Amino acid sequence: MRFILSLFLMIWGPLSLSGQEAHLANTNPVKEKSTYKIGIIIGSTRPNKIGGQVAEWVFQQVQEAPNLQFTLVDLEKWNLPLFNEPGMPLNGPKTYVHAHTKKWGHEIASYDGYIFVTPQYNCGYPASLKNAIDYLYAEWKDKPAIIISYGFQDGGAKAAMQLKQVLESFKMKFSSTMPAIGLAPQMLNEKKKLKNASEDFKPYREAVLNAVNELVESLKYLS
Ligand SMILES: Cc1cc2nc3c(=O)[nH]c(=O)nc-3n(C[C@H](O)[C@H](O)[C@H](O)COP(=O)(O)O)c2cc1C
Repeated sequence: MRFILSLFLMIWGPLSLSGQEAHLANTNPVKEKSTYKIGIIIGSTRPNKIGGQVAEWVFQQVQEAPNLQFTLVDLEKWNLPLFNEPGMPLNGPKTYVHAHTKKWGHEIASYDGYIFVTPQYNCGYPASLKNAIDYLYAEWKDKPAIIISYGFQDGGAKAAMQLKQVLESFKMKFSSTMPAIGLAPQMLNEKKKLKNASEDFKPYREAVLNAVNELVESLKYLS
């Protein structure tokens, strides 16, 4: 009887796990850090962007997550030129020739995981974000990530899907929850800035917190 029970658990146990759990079950948790650093990357670089406000709202929602320290990474401030490294980032940081690449590489390497905050531009994510991603390779590799999109159409879900497809090349561990924040014209003032994100984005708070919980789980398996 005991033998049959063990056999049942051996076969049924792994099959009954969800995708994320199955992924985790295949890996041993490594020693947990006391604090994990998470970069919240603002994908838009428009001078009048709302991306900063969206990211700031995300930042405020996640403050109570234990053991996580969040930093806003504003690509507008980074002002990276259009990709101009002569080599392939896949070949490692030693091949970087430009100071801006080395600095950007250090910044991204310093985080254990990321929250990408992306708008939707013409049914995709902005070129500024693709450019910043393409500069690096090892710095992104295998790390956990959340993608949060915003837009007038489906909360920018198309941008999020495309971004996920690109980031999959780094074997990032994505939260299955991908918050997609729906914008509406009445959320913006005459300067096209958000009037009241804390009220208007309330419906998305739970999704953001669920995604962060998933990120925390993935961080435990970061080597
Ligand atoms: C170049 C461009 C293309 C856009 N394309 C879309 C789109 O395809 N779908 C959508 O819902 N909104 C679109 N928008 C509206 C943006 O979602 C909205 O302007 C948002 O504020 C952009 O984010 P940002 O202010 O952080 O740059 C577009 C905006 C720009 C500037």
